[in-house]
Amino acid sequence: MIEADWQRLERAARAAAANAHCPYSHFAVGAAVLTADGAIGAGCNVENASFGLTICAERNAIFRAVADGARAIVAVAIYTPTAAPATPCGACRQVIAEFGRDAVVRCVCDGPARTQHTLANLLPAAFALPTSGSEQ
Ligand code: THU
Repeated sequence: MIEADWQRLERAARAAAANAHCPYSHFAVGAAVLTADGAIGAGCNVENASFGLTICAERNAIFRAVADGARAIVAVAIYTPTAAPATPCGACRQVIAEFGRDAVVRCVCDGPARTQHTLANLLPAAFALPTSGSEQ
């Protein structure tokens, strides 16, 4: 992926964080995914007074892209309001795997540092339903 596309994705992730609903953690995260069709889906974390119902920015971005018809994700940009880049939680890694086994994940923050990982490195043994053999 060319750097201009990464910049577009990164801008979308940073902009999405502005809409985060995070009155409990005060930790506003933004994420943006690039689909195989060249579309961008963006999302933020949305917290709930029943804390366990909170959803991360990454999953919101993916679900938004999928709801718009996407089925393949090639890249993910994640912004966290931190001095050093953070990496996505385990649940989000599994959800990225559903649509982007070969996706590249870039993590950016308020500092100059950024990281880039393949999803395969972040989640080497993602769960997938066996295609056969589980029938009784
Ligand atoms: N959060 C995300 O949105 N993405 C992550 O990868 C990790 C955590 C959110 C969930 C919660 O609203 C807040 O950050 C603090 O955990």
